[in-house]
Amino acid sequence: MTSSAQEPKYTVPGLSTQDGGKAIELLRLRLHALNDLSLTLKHIHWNVVGPHFIAIHEMLDPQVDRVREMADDTAERISALGGVPAGTPGALVTERTWDDYDVGRADAIAHLGALDLVYTGIIESHRAAREEIGKFDAVTEDLLIEHLRSLEQFQWFVRAHLESAGGTLSNADAQTETEAARSAEGK
Ligand SMILES: [Fe+2]
Repeated sequence: MTSSAQEPKYTVPGLSTQDGGKAIELLRLRLHALNDLSLTLKHIHWNVVGPHFIAIHEMLDPQVDRVREMADDTAERISALGGVPAGTPGALVTERTWDDYDVGRADAIAHLGALDLVYTGIIESHRAAREEIGKFDAVTEDLLIEHLRSLEQFQWFVRAHLESAGGTLSNADAQTETEAARSAEGK
């Protein structure tokens, strides 16, 4: 555990308080990532423009609802493990290890190019946390696996807009959201 990690006074039965503390610490950043994603999806819902506005505007709200459920389940798992979920914007911004989404008003395909990278980031870090938690707590691991199924399905919804009939993604080589937005637009 890092120095900021707190060993809880109690945790779920059958788990040591030390392992409970490790799970709480790993879930802390997952909660930030999910809260961040739900806000970012709403930001895109509000800022998307162009001929495909309504398709993307309406595609995103069910994703927001599901991601908010995932955040709620994560926070309540932290509580069940004996920890204290951090749900404030200040804690999120201070502790997150990624930058703010940086596309404002833009065409649907540009946002989708950038959103693909957002999903890649959260899926990679969720998978890494799943692997670590799976070493000592299968129940918390199961929660993350359930999240990953939805997150990977949502990324597919996004990628289907970027994919050619030959199976290539238009933003495949992009390293940043701005680059991904530009290459998705064919610029
Ligand atoms: Fe709305």
